[in-house]
Amino acid sequence: MDNASISDSDFARFQQMIFNIAGISMTSAKKALVAGRLARRLKHHGLDCYGEYFKLLSRQQDEMQMAVDLLTTNETYFFREPKHFDFLRDTILPKHPPGRPFRVWSAASSSGEEAYTIAMVLADNLGTTPWEILGSDLSTRVLEKALAGLYPMERLRGIPQASLRAHCLKGVGSQTGSFLIDPVLRRRVRFEQINLNEPLPNVGEFDVIFLRNVMIYFQTETKRQVVARLLTKLRPGGYFIVGHSESLNGLAEGLETIAPSIYRKP
Ligand SMILES: C[S@@+](CC[C@H](N)C(=O)[O-])C[C@H]1O[C@@H](n2cnc3c(N)ncnc32)[C@H](O)[C@@H]1O
Repeated sequence: MDNASISDSDFARFQQMIFNIAGISMTSAKKALVAGRLARRLKHHGLDCYGEYFKLLSRQQDEMQMAVDLLTTNETYFFREPKHFDFLRDTILPKHPPGRPFRVWSAASSSGEEAYTIAMVLADNLGTTPWEILGSDLSTRVLEKALAGLYPMERLRGIPQASLRAHCLKGVGSQTGSFLIDPVLRRRVRFEQINLNEPLPNVGEFDVIFLRNVMIYFQTETKRQVVARLLTKLRPGGYFIVGHSESLNGLAEGLETIAPSIYRKP
C-alpha cells in the first residue's frame, strides 16, 4: 500500500492520539513519517486504511503500545554530548559525600545507551560509594533493548577505550558482531516504563536527572509540566541536565543555570 494514502483526517487522529498519550507534538510535516512508520502494522493486520487501524487501536492495548513505540523517535548513542559526562565526572562526583548512595535517573533513556554511559562514569569514578541508575522510557520496544544490554559492534563508537575494556564484552557464538554491557554494570541499572506526560510513580529522589533530547518533541506547556514533575524527584543541590539543543529558559524558575544545558536545584 502507498504510504501517502493517509488522509488529513486520519492523520489528525494519530496526531491527537500521540499528543494525548505522550505529549508529543507532530506538525503536518510529519504526515509521511507517520504513514511510513505505521504502514507495516496495517499490512500485518490486512488493513488498507489508516482509519481502520486507528479504530483497532482502541480495542487492542498491545497494538496501541506498538503504535506508540513506532511513533516515538529513539535515536541515541553512547557518550552522546560528552561534555555532560565530563561535568558529571569532574564537577558533580567529587562534591558528593562519600558513602551516601548516589542516584541518577536517565528519563527518556531510549535503548539504554545514556544510562549505561552514566553507569560507566560512576563505576570508574565513585570508588566504594554505592550508586544506582534508573533508566525509563515510554516505549517498551526500546526498554527491551536496554534491558538486554546487547548492541551491534558499530555502536561502540564514542566509548573511550578504557571504559570499553572495563565494561563491554565482545559477543561470541550467536552474539558475534555485537557487544554486551558487562552484567556487573547491568545489575546496577534498572529500567522501567515511565510516561513523563503523566503523574510520576514513586521513584525516590535523585542526585542527577538527565532529560535529554526529548523536550524537542514537546510544546512549551508540556515541557513546563514535565520539568515540574521531574523537579519534585530531584534532591536539593541536585543537577538537572537537558540536551544541548534544548533549554529550560522560562520553564523552571528557581533553578540555577550552571552551564548551558546544566541546571542545579538550590
Ligand atoms: C531521541 S530519544 C533520546 C534518548 C536519550 N535521552 C539521548 O539523549 O540520547 C527520545 C526518547 O524519549 C522517549 N519519549 C517520548 N515521549 C516520552 C514520554 N512522554 N515519556 C517518556 N519517554 C518519552 C522516546 O520513546 C525516545 O526513546
